[in-house]
Amino acid sequence: MADLDDIRDGDNFGLNTPADTSAFYLKGLNNASWGLKNRMSRIFNRKSGRTVMLAFDHGFLMGPTSGLERIDLNIAPLAAHADCLMGCRGMIRTSIPADNTKPICLRTDTGTTILTEMNHNVLISEEEAVSMNVSAMAAMLSIGDADTEASTIANFSRLVDIGNKYSIPVMGVTAVGKDMARDSRYFGLASRVCAENGASIVKTYYTEGFENVVAACPVPIVIAGGKKLPELEALELCYKAIQCGASGVDMGRNVFQSEAPLAMMTAVKEVVHNDATPAEAFDVYNTVKNEA
Ligand code: R5P
Repeated sequence: MADLDDIRDGDNFGLNTPADTSAFYLKGLNNASWGLKNRMSRIFNRKSGRTVMLAFDHGFLMGPTSGLERIDLNIAPLAAHADCLMGCRGMIRTSIPADNTKPICLRTDTGTTILTEMNHNVLISEEEAVSMNVSAMAAMLSIGDADTEASTIANFSRLVDIGNKYSIPVMGVTAVGKDMARDSRYFGLASRVCAENGASIVKTYYTEGFENVVAACPVPIVIAGGKKLPELEALELCYKAIQCGASGVDMGRNVFQSEAPLAMMTAVKEVVHNDATPAEAFDVYNTVKNEA
């Protein structure tokens, strides 16, 4: 029975404080649903508006590549230091502890490997993403590849439909079409295709003229690191992308193949969240490396 004999009328309506009508802090998402914004807020730091995602999805194409032989040993210890973990369902389920509290960006397309022809992909079931409590779903688009462009865009569009149903942001991963130049015109086109098809995040590659790629993409862009570079060069790559307006990185090999992965992750975070210069971040890298 409800307690009815001491019902107090409200008397604190904050009449001098107008309701907050400010916009959402990430670009292009003001009209997104509450759930989608809430998930994006788990991935992107509220203060910097940026993210350092740790990518370890490479094995579904390449097998146990260097640095990913044991996800439980190579990646799980880094999880607490990343802003978001990007991987495939099998490796997350088997090798990332379930008490992990970092948001998950689930690689949601699969199909072919480096042993045959890549990018003939299909989507895994949406129930998987929901059951794994993911904060985002990622699928690749191979723009400019005559064999797989249409099917990967179709996959992506369907994934956005699913994402909108459950308020799960979808990240478009731009693969480089076989015959395409790695320039700002190509990455600008590929990123824009992701956004036009409903991406909430776009993952692409840094190139000269990247400011134009960022400007023409109405949602946050993160960059992949690409092949392993010397640490200072990788930090320069991050710095240039951030200064051109990137909203962070989704970086794999340049972290987990580094001689000191935790030090590299820490240094990348300095660039992404604190606008550290490459030299400043490299100092951080060496300090953390030498402390270990
Ligand atoms: C590419 O399809 C994969 O999604 C990788 O996660 C991506 O390339 C990022 O990794 P890396 O920094 O090693 O390029």
